[in-house]
Amino acid sequence: MCGIFGIITRDEQQLGPLLIDAGRRLSYRGYDSVGCATIHRDGKIDLRKDAGKVDEVANRLGFSEMTGSRGILQLRWATFGAPSQVNSQPHLDSDGDMVGAHNGNVVNNVELRQQFIAEGMIVRSTNDGESCVHAVERYVDRGMDPIEAIRHAYQDLAGDYSFVIGRVGEEKLYAFKKGSGLVAGLLDGGAVISSDLPSILPLTRRIVRIEDGEIVTLTPDGITIHGVADGQIIQREPELVQETMEAAQKGGYPHFMLKEIHEQPVVAGELLHLLDASPDVNPIIEKISQARNVYLIGCGTSYHACLAGSVYFSRIARRVTIPVLAPQFIAQYAPAVGPRDVGIFVSQSGETKDVLNAIEAGKQRGMGIFSLVNVVGSTMTRISERSLPLACGYEISVPATKTFTNQVLSFLYLAYRLAGLDTASLAVIPDLMVKTLEAVSHQVQALEPDFHRWNDFYCLGYGLTFPIALEGALKLKEITYSHCEGMLSTEFKHGPLSAVQDGYPIVFVAGREDVPLIVSGINEVTCRGALAIAIGEADPRLDANAQKVVVMPDSGDSNIAALLSVLPLQLLSYHLSIARGFDPDFPRNLSKTLTVD
Ligand code: M6R
Repeated sequence: MCGIFGIITRDEQQLGPLLIDAGRRLSYRGYDSVGCATIHRDGKIDLRKDAGKVDEVANRLGFSEMTGSRGILQLRWATFGAPSQVNSQPHLDSDGDMVGAHNGNVVNNVELRQQFIAEGMIVRSTNDGESCVHAVERYVDRGMDPIEAIRHAYQDLAGDYSFVIGRVGEEKLYAFKKGSGLVAGLLDGGAVISSDLPSILPLTRRIVRIEDGEIVTLTPDGITIHGVADGQIIQREPELVQETMEAAQKGGYPHFMLKEIHEQPVVAGELLHLLDASPDVNPIIEKISQARNVYLIGCGTSYHACLAGSVYFSRIARRVTIPVLAPQFIAQYAPAVGPRDVGIFVSQSGETKDVLNAIEAGKQRGMGIFSLVNVVGSTMTRISERSLPLACGYEISVPATKTFTNQVLSFLYLAYRLAGLDTASLAVIPDLMVKTLEAVSHQVQALEPDFHRWNDFYCLGYGLTFPIALEGALKLKEITYSHCEGMLSTEFKHGPLSAVQDGYPIVFVAGREDVPLIVSGINEVTCRGALAIAIGEADPRLDANAQKVVVMPDSGDSNIAALLSVLPLQLLSYHLSIARGFDPDFPRNLSKTLTVD
């Protein structure tokens, strides 16, 4: 997830070391490139940037020597444009007298770049941060002052983003927020602005939180806020913040996992915007529709997303696809694939060795290679013909949460497009995610005593909720250190039923359409003493048959309901992990990226 930082001071000074430190503090968000710009009173802008890590790029390019009275630092997490020197931020405007950087996604970047080029501007990169600079330049060149120019640029820039910008010839920085985080801080004789609190806290505890639709002007005397809608000044007193750095990095949550669970609505919304604007969606859809066989390939959580994707493709687009674990693809299918087949490889990290091996095996046989990957610039994105970003930002906790929901959402979106359906109806998902998290949080916490004495349980689903049950079971195993098996609910009677004893907890994930079948499964186990916990939308049949019901809000759509039903399972595993005294972010024996066979 990108991060921006800007500072203005009364006197010219060596800003480089301060900017490097801010970069280090922002780096927990994840990034692939780093850049700094300083602006001097004499009109000179010093811009240094490249792909790489903060300390390495800073040493190589001599960031610490950079001086000025204003400075901007940016850490880039690639979505538009590969990680490279030219796509790194900050960016200059056409004449080189304005410099800026952004955080977030400008989803009409491709169209805007074409417009800027047609208007005679100098566009140097394919990165959407540069579009923010040119969008302001466009109106400054027409004679508007920077506030007016930003108000107009806001009309042109679609998406969720924040940016910071500085011009030569005036002792000010400007920043704007729409969707992405932005916090200002007051210094003695200066001011700072940043994507998040942790990068500001060592410099000041006098903080002003910026809201969406606000333009901030930073001067050595403090900050002024204008509303983008009417240009009127907004008064806001600074607050004195007491949080520690670590608490601030976790955004007020006790663990990254919980923070990432609650980020799901936002990243889902961003993903839908990105997919709407992506030039890669149509070519991928075309390949899927023309292919002989389509394989959906991943490991762990990413494989569960493939299973859900396969159900979506069949049910929504009538397209049969084959979900398969990456090593099994090599053993079973690779010998039989050829140029008429397509593989969609799914990964959070883009570096999982098992998946890279499967890509290599498919490539050798001429198969089409496409991918859904969170880390843009990772090996998988580089060796795929086309890759769709998952747009989740950095996922720090080892248990995958927001990347899973965006993988499943990507498949749902592709299935809609393949079926020729209007994807606008998916726009309800972020809001439903918010409602689901609100509705289920306390309900799942209350279940802890039911699991307390057990180190062995089951999580069952059917149809679309089968992959969700597998994912829930993996989360429970991963961070509670208990054995939890995920299974098709109808399979339980074919053997595992013998495990049932008094109070034995079994979670049933009930899809909207599958309640009668789930109710049968519930009765098969409860009559033998099991404790049945149903997760589903409000349904009197679940209330009448299960001992415990976690009620989710009504989604009106079984495809969407299944995606939402993973949220209570993520929260359940989180709370059980905490109750057992474990650290859910970094479970024993596990690593976030598995680069070994
Ligand atoms: O980076 P990937 O998505 O390729 O990783 C695959 C699995 O190792 C990963 O999903 C793992 O199962 C998760 N940590 C589970 O939460």
